[in-house]
Amino acid sequence: TKATFRSPKADDVTLVVEPGVSLMQAAVRAGLDGIVADCGGQRQCATCHVYVDEAFTGLLPPMSEDEDDMLEITATERTGRSRLSCQLVASEDIEEIVVDLPERQR
Ligand code: FES
Repeated sequence: TKATFRSPKADDVTLVVEPGVSLMQAAVRAGLDGIVADCGGQRQCATCHVYVDEAFTGLLPPMSEDEDDMLEITATERTGRSRLSCQLVASEDIEEIVVDLPERQR
């Protein structure tokens, strides 16, 4: 999956994410500012919040109840595009995805 992270503060970053790896993991490994991921992907921190570009929301699996709950405590406003990037896992089915990083995660 080719994942592009758009940031309000920096240039866009595009990463090639191997199947099975979450966008959060890929971003953290790449040292991307803007994804904090305090809980390491356990759906317990909401500091991996991203806004998925509308063009790609339909490709994603529906969110779990846990993810839905965590999105209630994001640092920036939740919208219809909000997801936890630790729950967005690259796969063969998703060729490309674009997400916007929020202004802040805490
Ligand atoms: Fe903590 Fe995603 S990394 S909820």
